[in-house]
Amino acid sequence: MLVLGIESSCDETGVALYDTQQGLLAHAVHSQVAMHEDYGGVVPELASRDHIRRLVPLFEQVLAASGLAKTEIDAIAYTAGPGLAGALLVGASFATSLALALGVPALPIHHLEGHLLSPLLAHDPPVFPFIALLVSGGHTQIMRVTGVGAYALMGESLDDAAGEAFDKTAQLLGLGYPGGPALAKLAETGTPGRFRLPRPMLTSGDFMFSFSGLKTAVLTAVRERALTDADKADLAAEFQEAVTEVVAAKALAACRQACLTTLVVAGGVGANERLRERLDTAAKERGVRVCYPELALCTDNGAMIAFAGALRLQAGLAETTVGNGAFVVKPRWPLATT
Ligand code: KG4
Ligand code: ZN
Repeated sequence: MLVLGIESSCDETGVALYDTQQGLLAHAVHSQVAMHEDYGGVVPELASRDHIRRLVPLFEQVLAASGLAKTEIDAIAYTAGPGLAGALLVGASFATSLALALGVPALPIHHLEGHLLSPLLAHDPPVFPFIALLVSGGHTQIMRVTGVGAYALMGESLDDAAGEAFDKTAQLLGLGYPGGPALAKLAETGTPGRFRLPRPMLTSGDFMFSFSGLKTAVLTAVRERALTDADKADLAAEFQEAVTEVVAAKALAACRQACLTTLVVAGGVGANERLRERLDTAAKERGVRVCYPELALCTDNGAMIAFAGALRLQAGLAETTVGNGAFVVKPRWPLATT
């Protein structure tokens, strides 16, 4: 079964072809980062317009790379939410109209389900049940996953997501957009501990997070005095220590509470080296296996959407919208309800 995946929920246009026998055949992503950079964040209207420009060429590129014809596609999975409404509508309308033309089902997919299942695309995939740590620009969640479509929320952020905190802090330090990778790079050259930042909710005894106070603490440090480049690096290092310490501790505590020995990490912040180092060390001590998606599949992409669609179809869980071409997008959509 050949599934086309379409991702357009935010600032990346992703297209992929996944075959249930042969695996991922081809995938391509266009990032809009350069376009939004001048504005210091994603401009929704520009994002939608760019998805419109990119989708068809990316689709043709992926088809050519796979050597297949579009008539061989058996189903089209697309991100139906959560995300920017206009951006989602571009992918949804493209996927639904192509599905209608080809006479195949269109499958609305939850963006976070795509992230959550993406480590299963790896060479030696984890097996259910496992704990999933979702750390992206929009979400920080810990879920107990017992199978495809069976996700129980154990905890999440009460305010900013981890990626959002990275981005906002990077902006405070003058690092531009998107700040996460830039802040991580600067942190490599800094010394944590010289500035002292809080570890929010580290000892709260649950799986909830809060990152907005951390960002405010950085703002206070920035306002107190003019920071040198060395100060900024030290502050970045301390910020990264604070976020990764809390995230790693809670993820491992969730494994212990659920008596599970597999931890799956997904979402853009999952690319953070310091987070990986901490998770790997703590997991080793506790006999937990940590699984990550390939680095290229950590951030938004079409492969994870095609893959989630294929798994849902195989599990008989796909909610298809074939026939009348009607579709809806859900800018806000809790994963536990899928
Ligand atoms: O999953 P993703 O691509 O998009 C969402 O669905 O949100 O995640 C993007 C987020 C951004 O906030 C970005 O700054 C962050 O992931 N990010 C990182 C790193 N790479 C991406 N944060 C910290 N360290 C990184 N290396
Ligand atoms: Zn994402």
